[in-house]
Amino acid sequence: MKFMIINGPNLNLLGIREKNIYGTKSFDDVIDYIEKEGKALGHELTFFQSNIEGEIINKIHETYFNGYDGIIINPAAYTHYSIAIYDALKAVDIKTVEVHLSNVHSREEMRHKSVTAAACIGQISGFGEYGYVMAMNALENSLK
Ligand code: DQA
Repeated sequence: MKFMIINGPNLNLLGIREKNIYGTKSFDDVIDYIEKEGKALGHELTFFQSNIEGEIINKIHETYFNGYDGIIINPAAYTHYSIAIYDALKAVDIKTVEVHLSNVHSREEMRHKSVTAAACIGQISGFGEYGYVMAMNALENSLK
């Protein structure tokens, strides 16, 4: 299946930012891991990372015009307040799984609410980069 994997702001600094929360693996290492796992599962993956809300929205729109089967998105901080990303996911109506590396529910209260998860088939939180593999399996299962 053809999946778009979108990562939001500050995730490009994995391996540098708050290592006690996000671990020591670099962003590139995490992407390599997801790519390898995706290939083993037989999926075609496209990766996109941006620190800019509008670029993420444009990429979500592209998935509609380019025949993607599903989206895996870690909207990072936008999770907690971007109605525009929620609207974009609703607009394209492509099955989406929201992933968070950390367990957002065990962190500050401001991270407990996701405005974007309501546009997704589900949310995976707290399993590190393995969450993206779980998301691929969840999408495949819900698409067949
Ligand atoms: C995050 C959790 C968000 O609250 C935070 O703003 C991030 C990363 C995660 O993957 O755990 O940047 O989405």
